[in-house]
Amino acid sequence: MGVSTKKKSQASANKSKEKRQARKLEQRRIADGMAHVTSANKLKDMATLCKELLVYRSRELEVDMYIQRVTDLDKNVLDWAIDLTERNMKRLYETCAWGWNRERKIEEMTDDAAWYLIAKDQKDNLLAFSHFRFDMDFGDPVLYCYEVQVEAGGRRRGLGQQLLRVLERLALATRMRFVRLTALTHNPAATAFFKACGYSLDETSPPKEEASHYEILSKATEMEEDIPEELDDA
Ligand SMILES: CC(C)(COP(=O)(O)OP(=O)(O)OC[C@H]1O[C@@H](n2cnc3c(N)ncnc32)[C@H](O)[C@@H]1OP(=O)(O)O)[C@@H](O)C(=O)NCCC(=O)NCCS
Repeated sequence: MGVSTKKKSQASANKSKEKRQARKLEQRRIADGMAHVTSANKLKDMATLCKELLVYRSRELEVDMYIQRVTDLDKNVLDWAIDLTERNMKRLYETCAWGWNRERKIEEMTDDAAWYLIAKDQKDNLLAFSHFRFDMDFGDPVLYCYEVQVEAGGRRRGLGQQLLRVLERLALATRMRFVRLTALTHNPAATAFFKACGYSLDETSPPKEEASHYEILSKATEMEEDIPEELDDA
């Protein structure tokens, strides 16, 4: 074998070794992500991960929050959450390609994978909630925020932002890479809100030509980067 041929075959062997290693790293990343999602969904006491954030006091609000799986949620609370979502979102859905379908929304909100963060005042008035899930999304373990809904009378007092802070803490504690969500583009209040809370266009958001009525927003979890162990190339 000539020197140059030998060099070439060495280079191509190195390249395929690099590819194999990259593939292994990616497989391990996905397997780790799935393990984190499974562990998060098995948690018995989510509140211990974010205790101090579940109490929100401002000049105008005294709010306490709690977290439950949909399967443990009081039926009246679930009915209120569905009703609030309809009051807040029906018109917005009706004016885009999705349309409003109450049954479909109820199905989504009562899926066994759903978790709820509920905010109430000292008199037990329900003020706001978030429906969220731990899931794999485009290969990433994410906390997906399906809804953040605040009663009209409780808005612009920092409550929505506090709900997101809780979600972000949970994402960090359970090793989710992002808090991700879908936002309607013709909901300027929500767009301004998510922007103010540090959310930006996610790389998985579809191009405008494909879907102009919604976009995917996200905030990366500030985890220390995992340092991958040396992978043996066996
Ligand atoms: C969007 C929503 C969740 C915001 O909740 P909120 O408790 O009012 O928001 P906050 O008080 O935490 O706002 C934090 C910041 O977001 C921005 N923001 C919030 N609402 C805004 C609005 N209507 N217009 C412009 N900016 C807004 C502001 O910068 C605000 O800070 P500031 O009040 O000091 O200026 C609430 O308006 C809502 O429930 N809307 C209907 C449902 C909805 O659209 N949900 C989101 C899509 S699922």
